[in-house]
Amino acid sequence: MTALRSIDVSKVFEDGFTALADINLSVDPGEFVTLLGPSGCGKTTLLKIFAGFYAPTTGRVEQNGADVTSAPPEKRDTAMCFQSYALFPHLTVAENIEFGPKQNRVDRDERLDRLNELLRQVDLERHREKLPNKLSGGQQQRVALARALAMRPSVVLFDEPLSNLDAKLREQVRREIRGLQRKFGFTAIYVTHDQSEALAMSDRVVVMSGGKVEQIGAPEEVYQRPETAFVADFIGSANLLPFDRVDDHVVETPLGRLTVSNRPDPNARFICWRPEDAEFGVSEGGNIVTSDISERAYQGAYTDLHISVAGAPDQRLHWPGGASCVGQSATFRLPPERIRFVRGEIA
Ligand SMILES: Nc1ncnc2c1ncn2[C@@H]1O[C@H](COP(=O)(O)OP(=O)(O)O)[C@@H](O)[C@H]1O
Ligand SMILES: [Mg+2]
Repeated sequence: MTALRSIDVSKVFEDGFTALADINLSVDPGEFVTLLGPSGCGKTTLLKIFAGFYAPTTGRVEQNGADVTSAPPEKRDTAMCFQSYALFPHLTVAENIEFGPKQNRVDRDERLDRLNELLRQVDLERHREKLPNKLSGGQQQRVALARALAMRPSVVLFDEPLSNLDAKLREQVRREIRGLQRKFGFTAIYVTHDQSEALAMSDRVVVMSGGKVEQIGAPEEVYQRPETAFVADFIGSANLLPFDRVDDHVVETPLGRLTVSNRPDPNARFICWRPEDAEFGVSEGGNIVTSDISERAYQGAYTDLHISVAGAPDQRLHWPGGASCVGQSATFRLPPERIRFVRGEIA
């Protein structure tokens, strides 16, 4: 049985704006699914539909197989964890965490058990009597998380919970969230516009654009086998080039005639390769490209090169050596199996 499911869900707001169209998503119990896409693509709207804050304009929402489309938030077994921590400023850490269970008349012993366990889990035992404004951003976010988990929800909906934290803390808290999720076994739907967060945390990623689902897949799938130009470009960086089919395994491109392992499907519009796909120091075996280097940026583990070939003015590749290892041109090989085909438009 699926933990949470949307069937043909769309949302048209009062002003006539279509924020979501035909969203079909099934989430398994205990799965960690992220909704990934640029600002305005409909992530929060979909999360609010799952939480029961918005009714979909068309379609249905199911939780554990039951139709909850018109059930109010308190009748769903879900909890929300927001980016603005939304803690009660006049309540202590402990009171914030106990708030939901108190409202729901969970008995005192059980409440205290949950509180103590959660305080330990999020490492806030020493701060239980503090008010939220005496805590750091990371600690406040942990209180918000503990407060969401105090109700023992089977689904937790996260809306960009880490976006107020600095980069280092973000990485730490995201590991903690994933750790808690494994420990408590809840199903997580996690909204982010940060591709690295999505790749690091998820069992599956739902890539969204303009109110639609572009692709759903494991992190490795959406990165290694993007289906559309949007997905290829939004996750990591991608070189996208038009092509003409010569035969099943040969295409004509601005980089020259290339052998490919995958056959282009009839709807494919572009070839796609990633900066790290280029092989250096190989001069045989076909698919050799010689290009002019227009820019280089040393990144430590590699040097980011911008190269151009007639008809392909700004391609990017990673030179594995140091900054000074290359001259004004770069020769590299594109392995046939690294060349993918994608549908869609270049933004
Ligand atoms: N209440 C509303 N009325 C009209 N348009 C809205 C409303 N809420 C959100 N939108 C619009 O719907 C789109 C999706 O919003 P949202 O789901 O918040 O995007 P995201 O969370 O992906 O940034 C945006 O273009 C936003 O302006
Ligand atoms: Mg949002």
